[in-house]
Amino acid sequence: MCGIVGFIGKAEAAPLLVEGLKRLEYRGYDSAGIATLSNGVLERRRAEGKIVNLEKVVQASAANGTIGIGHTRWATHGIPNETNAHPHATDKVAVVHNGIIENFQELRAELIEKGYTPYSETDSEVVPMMITRYLDEGMGPIEAVRLTLKRLEGAFALGILFAGEEDLLIGARRGSPLAVGFGAGEMYLGSDAMALAPLTKQIAYLDEGDWVVLNREGATFYDQDDQQVEREVTETAMSGALIGKGEHRHYMLKEIYEQPQVIGDTLSSFFNPTTQTISMPDFPFDLKEIPRLTIVACGTSFYAGLVAKYWIEQYARVGVEIDVASEFRYREAPMPDGGLALFISQSGETADTLAALRYAKSQGQSILSIVNVPESSMERESDAVLHTHAGPEIGVASTKAFTTQLTVLACFAIALAKAKGTIDEECEARLCKAIAEVPARCADVLNHDGTLREIALKVAEARDVLYLGRGASFPIAMEGALKLKEISYIHAEGYAAGEMKHGPIALIDESVPIIVIAPTDSNFEKTASNTQESVARGGRVIFMADEHGVQKMADHAVASVVMPQVDPFVAPILYSIPVQLLAYHVAVHKGTDVDQPRNLAKSVTVE
Ligand code: G6P
Repeated sequence: MCGIVGFIGKAEAAPLLVEGLKRLEYRGYDSAGIATLSNGVLERRRAEGKIVNLEKVVQASAANGTIGIGHTRWATHGIPNETNAHPHATDKVAVVHNGIIENFQELRAELIEKGYTPYSETDSEVVPMMITRYLDEGMGPIEAVRLTLKRLEGAFALGILFAGEEDLLIGARRGSPLAVGFGAGEMYLGSDAMALAPLTKQIAYLDEGDWVVLNREGATFYDQDDQQVEREVTETAMSGALIGKGEHRHYMLKEIYEQPQVIGDTLSSFFNPTTQTISMPDFPFDLKEIPRLTIVACGTSFYAGLVAKYWIEQYARVGVEIDVASEFRYREAPMPDGGLALFISQSGETADTLAALRYAKSQGQSILSIVNVPESSMERESDAVLHTHAGPEIGVASTKAFTTQLTVLACFAIALAKAKGTIDEECEARLCKAIAEVPARCADVLNHDGTLREIALKVAEARDVLYLGRGASFPIAMEGALKLKEISYIHAEGYAAGEMKHGPIALIDESVPIIVIAPTDSNFEKTASNTQESVARGGRVIFMADEHGVQKMADHAVASVVMPQVDPFVAPILYSIPVQLLAYHVAVHKGTDVDQPRNLAKSVTVE
């Protein structure tokens, strides 16, 4: 989603801004732009589409100056064209904005009344217009921003540059994250540490409601009541090296192939190889006393939570309520005294999940988060955090973040069951052994890449695809369908195999491939029966099961993927990989933009 960079220093700003924007590309965007100050005059360059288009514009007409702001825009209000691209500006001020100004219509009407004329369809444009109005009324830039911030409703991060002010950059944060980077005689603004990593490792994050005044020598922070405050400068762990694709054609494929490694890295935080046991860090709440667990997340992270519901209810016997954050945050769910709420997020910044976290906090819940991006907003607002060690995930379609989330959740389920006394030592040993084998088994699954590439040729012709699974394989069916939709633009649905008869079976004919996720577990026979019901109606089944399962369905499936024989407990982690690879190869075959699919954003920071 929208990304912000800002620079004030000695070097030419434009190349640094464009580089920073490239590092934010992974968030998803559809136009980009920069503004610099050249001899006190605002210079603005913008372009629809990819950053390469912006680079061409900047090459054709340089934007000079050692101070500037840049932006990647993911359209919310107004189509993604050059006019709507950021920075938005008047002759006095240029602004980049991430988020939504909810009262923009009201502010726009007020400004039009006062004689200011908007040129774009965006909500963002009211910000430079309002600042200009206060400047025109005789206020200085800092005061004009302070008053403007008071007028804005909604969620935002802002970067603001003023004509004639060569040593002044202002940032503000409400709802959307913003980081300040510290250099020698240089200062930076960025949506995340990733954008700033090659420039500096010294980062301070704005707290909710903060705004910050930057000059070349440093930063002055103000809180939401405009009181001057100190914000801690920390050393970011984010690598400064540009994250490459290695030998792979796409980030997504590289990230799929990293899974054995990053699952192992994640596991090593919880698994003790000497005792072969799982342990959790010390929590500020007692797992034994938890009456009920609420899990909230979005997208792929939600499906990870759904798998965890099966694990936690089966092994720890704790009731789990789970919802997508966009629903949960507004439905005023009652939450039990002493309850634990668990938030799962790759980015730690998803606006709905963060809002749901704050709601749960207001209901007296203990807050536990599972995040991949260290120092994220969710991490900072939680009572406790468990990290996935997936490393930076650049492909918009989540892969390694998902399987590392599952890894953490599997460990958490074991620890909770142990604390609750609902599993005996034998069961605990079995589960721990199963999870310890996952990295090696994942590597085995990657050997099926070639088979999946062939199967993809068949699936690529389809208009609709069904994914079926039961129990903990049901969320994997939904995740498989989501992956296919996201990157190949083929309509796909994940369904509980047992629900087929209640509707989707009507869709089945030879043009609809049916991907069946069927590890050998207590549900296998039932899933096999549901599969036969589909075959009997002309369905073309692609069966993902272990040797035993594949043999059983040999006469019915048009293609099979032979998965390793594993404990059913860890099957959801392993069966994620073939559905990822299938979606990937279908997308490559169709020639879509695998890493940055149309309309999607990596980190959704608006609701
Ligand atoms: C977007 C991304 C998905 C991700 C979801 C939740 O839709 O494209 O890949 O699963 O947001 O993001 P989070 O960072 O909270 O896991």
